[in-house]
Amino acid sequence: MSTAALTKERSRAMLLLAMTAALWSIGGLLIKLVDANPLAIAGARAAITTVILLIFIRKPKFTWSVPQLGAAISCTVTAILFVTANKTTTAANAILLQSTAPIYVAVLGALFLKEKARLYDWITILVVMGGMGLFFIDNLSIEGLWGNICAILSGISFAFFTIFMRMQKNGSPLESVLLGNLLTSIVGLPFLRQSMPSPSGWFFLVILGIFQLGLPYFMYSAAIKHATALEAVLIPVIEPILNPVWVFLILGELPGPSALLGGFIVLVAITLKCILAIIPVETLFRGKKGGSVNMIEQIINRRSIRKYSSKPVEDEKIIKLLESARIAPSGSNTQPWHFIVIKSEPLREKIAEAAHNQRWMISAPVFIACVADIRSRIKEDMYIEIDENSSQVEIKQIIRDTAIAIEHIVLTAGYMGLGTCWVSDFAQKDIRPIIGVNTDKYVVSILTVGYADEDPKSRPRKALEEIVHYESW
Ligand SMILES: Cc1cc2nc3c(=O)[nH]c(=O)nc-3n(C[C@H](O)[C@H](O)[C@H](O)COP(=O)(O)O)c2cc1C
Repeated sequence: MSTAALTKERSRAMLLLAMTAALWSIGGLLIKLVDANPLAIAGARAAITTVILLIFIRKPKFTWSVPQLGAAISCTVTAILFVTANKTTTAANAILLQSTAPIYVAVLGALFLKEKARLYDWITILVVMGGMGLFFIDNLSIEGLWGNICAILSGISFAFFTIFMRMQKNGSPLESVLLGNLLTSIVGLPFLRQSMPSPSGWFFLVILGIFQLGLPYFMYSAAIKHATALEAVLIPVIEPILNPVWVFLILGELPGPSALLGGFIVLVAITLKCILAIIPVETLFRGKKGGSVNMIEQIINRRSIRKYSSKPVEDEKIIKLLESARIAPSGSNTQPWHFIVIKSEPLREKIAEAAHNQRWMISAPVFIACVADIRSRIKEDMYIEIDENSSQVEIKQIIRDTAIAIEHIVLTAGYMGLGTCWVSDFAQKDIRPIIGVNTDKYVVSILTVGYADEDPKSRPRKALEEIVHYESW
């Protein structure tokens, strides 16, 4: 894609994200304008959204997996609590207290996804708790108090929703949302019998179902593909800022001064936390043991690590490693590499055994099997079998290119404070069946990845004079 086309895609994504956040932000005002019970509002809005989602998705694929059902249930709980909060406290309190979700994601992620909460996560949690406390100073009425509690609980259930969505690595998130809205309608619609909205109430409900909830789901999923991580964090902040503004302009409702200050603290702390999670890795690990300030230093300090601590490697770091491999150069840009991320202990045991029983490998929590695919060069549909004795030129080319990508991973890992070791001491016939690789692919290396539990000395290298020649050999 040309640079101009890419820039156009990006601007479109940013506009879509901004429009999504702006549409989300009308939720507070419209919910307040509908004269009905919160459950009835949540149910009717969700029923309309369900229809919109069905029109677009057409043939939803339900897996009925625990994460898909978990995401659907937490989607329902979030919607009901959020609507209830909007009806019982100020719109500003409802949306700002719900915005605390990322801190619960950090805590829940540590519990369920075994992702470690970092120091800055805990600092954010403390600051956000302080900010949340301020909301309760203005709200002395019992109703307002319950509204604030519902808003906080909706933030917690939204965090569960995020976690369940993340657990469905290859799942389709829209199906979870569809199920969630369906469930919300089933729970909420019966309450319409008790409190039927007026015609104007129905008008606002239709706007809520179609424009505030339904269409933004599609706009958001289209936008997120082309937006940078930073844009995906910063642009949606429009929602909690605009939401109370609409309510103030139309209904004149103002949150108390402490809630405004608390909201400001919560928004700044949460946004900073999200930015910190995505800023360039070199800034994050500067000065830490094992991390390096710059790439040259990393090249000099790199060692093969054969003893790892039990600390798990964060998923986002693994993604960054793979991303660094993805952008490696390759002959004719063939990109012959594939990577298999292996965390399972029994699999790691088997691999270590195949690598001539190098037991030290098992201490690494993650293996990345780096595989070269000859089909990137030989397209014909004929049977190909390659191994250590193959003489085709293509096998050398694919191994060469994959090796470049592997070294990208090694250096990026060092940059992020991780240790690695190339392991290639195995026979293709032994390693392939363990990781499900066919004979037309070549396992170039199993890279062990983890936090180093040793600080090995540098190994001897030949002198420059021995390896460098000028003009000719
Ligand atoms: C292609 C390749 C294969 C390797 N295979 C193994 C291996 O099977 N087992 C191992 O312990 N180290 C392996 N190594 C690591 C080397 O032994 C190590 O890079 C070398 O001794 C220099 O040490 P250093 O990496 O700490 O500078 C391999 C390295 C490369 C580049």
